[in-house]
Amino acid sequence: MPALELRGIVKTFGGLRANDGVDLVVQWGEVHALLGENGAGKSTLMNVVYGLQSPDAGEIVYDGQPVVIRRPEDAIRRGIGMVHQHFMLIPPLTVAENVVLGHESARGGMMDLTAAGQMVSELSHRYGLEVDPRARVRDLSVGLQQRVEILKALYRGARLLILDEPTAVLTPQEIDRLFEIVSNLKAEGKAVIFITHKLAEVMRIADQITVMRRGKVVATTTPAESSPPDLARLMVGRPVLLRVEKGPAHPGDVLLEVEALKVEDDLHHPAVEGVDLQVRAGEILGVAGVEGNGQRELVEAIVGLRPAKGRVTIAGRDMSHATTHRRLKDLSHIPADRQQMGVILDMSIADNLVLPDFDRPPFAHWLIRALDSIRAFAARIIKEYDIRAERPEQRTGSLSGGNQQKVVVARELATDPKILIAAQPTRGVDVGSIEFIHRRIVEQRDRGLAVLLVSSELDEVLSLSDRVAVIYRGQIAAVLEGEAIDREHIGLLMAGAA
Ligand SMILES: Nc1ncnc2c1ncn2[C@@H]1O[C@H](COP(=O)(O)OP(=O)(O)O)[C@@H](O)[C@H]1O
Ligand SMILES: [Mg+2]
Repeated sequence: MPALELRGIVKTFGGLRANDGVDLVVQWGEVHALLGENGAGKSTLMNVVYGLQSPDAGEIVYDGQPVVIRRPEDAIRRGIGMVHQHFMLIPPLTVAENVVLGHESARGGMMDLTAAGQMVSELSHRYGLEVDPRARVRDLSVGLQQRVEILKALYRGARLLILDEPTAVLTPQEIDRLFEIVSNLKAEGKAVIFITHKLAEVMRIADQITVMRRGKVVATTTPAESSPPDLARLMVGRPVLLRVEKGPAHPGDVLLEVEALKVEDDLHHPAVEGVDLQVRAGEILGVAGVEGNGQRELVEAIVGLRPAKGRVTIAGRDMSHATTHRRLKDLSHIPADRQQMGVILDMSIADNLVLPDFDRPPFAHWLIRALDSIRAFAARIIKEYDIRAERPEQRTGSLSGGNQQKVVVARELATDPKILIAAQPTRGVDVGSIEFIHRRIVEQRDRGLAVLLVSSELDEVLSLSDRVAVIYRGQIAAVLEGEAIDREHIGLLMAGAA
């Protein structure tokens, strides 16, 4: 009897068919990878199984029984657990409190914490989860918080566990530990649905692979019967170049330098604590680190969006006190948060593309906008950057995330900048667009662009960078080059353990 069988699941949002007749069979004792690009419909499908979304059509059969799951409590009662991309823990409470919270065995509102603590220890031990039940969640690393979420599901009796993009926030070592935990769950006969868009993970952990594209299942296969290029092609619908083709760098002058930089976060806690970095013409310096170690503040300080102490030198000039407007004349910036800072969703693609120069020739003469030049420029860029749009006048917000990001990247590279700050340049972007954006960045490097790449995707840092700086708690733990760029070593540095 399969653990879960989905038949013809349909879920629409307005006119969008997020799930378009999805069939899926998951066996007990199996790790089933649900693979697909951003927006393929993976989370929606699993939210249907977990009772967070109600399907428009289709049937769910759980352990041989047709079931109707209206809310998460229904799912939990049947033994279905889900760990979301964003954790739902309460930071000031302990691990044990978080685990039992909201569960019905918490008698009369009072939690039996001694018993809970014991059970948490026992479960933790049994599955190799190793978390201290008395620790406060706010003191735990992201990897440990994730284990608490898994414990919470197991405590509620989960036999089928859904993990939605669980590795997105983990270091390589934490990923190894998670994979061990998943193997232990499988060995106990549980079923695990592992949602991801990362091919290497699927090859490592999955027994079965279901690939989704645009709301539909396009293939069901196994790691033995497929390969990363096969899977990428299935996800995207065309062949994809997985490795960035890139020759050695030929670094020139230092174009961007920060010295003794100190920056505070929104709560005025130190976020960057004395960082020194240099980026030369014709090289890509990648900053690797677990998100939240000062990357955001570092970038904002360089761009002038956040006050900082220390010195920022851009193209040979001290710009420590210059405005953002001034700094952006000499550097391009792909911001981490595309929707807040990258594009204006209500504006047309054309207007977004000319944003930095909208009031200057060739896009304006005196105060009159030169609509023909704008349109011609936009049409050229749309073609060159393969932005999937019907017309330049189309509203940017109507594009997919990947295409919105291409608008930002195209705009930032179109001016032939000398320096590029690329923060999470491919976050939320599909595999096909990642390939494209990476190729453009490398091309520009070869023309002499100095690139500061900040990414929490270690694979991205490793495949693009000529040198790698590892940031941990606001400090640069090491800058590595050539042979010294070693994944394991970087993982340890990212965790503050080397
Ligand atoms: N609550 C929602 N309202 C409107 N659209 C949604 C909602 N949730 C998801 N979508 C859309 O459904 C599609 C599938 O999304 P999702 O299931 O989150 O994809 P995945 O998890 O594979 O990245 C996307 O186009 C997304 O924008
Ligand atoms: Mg998702």
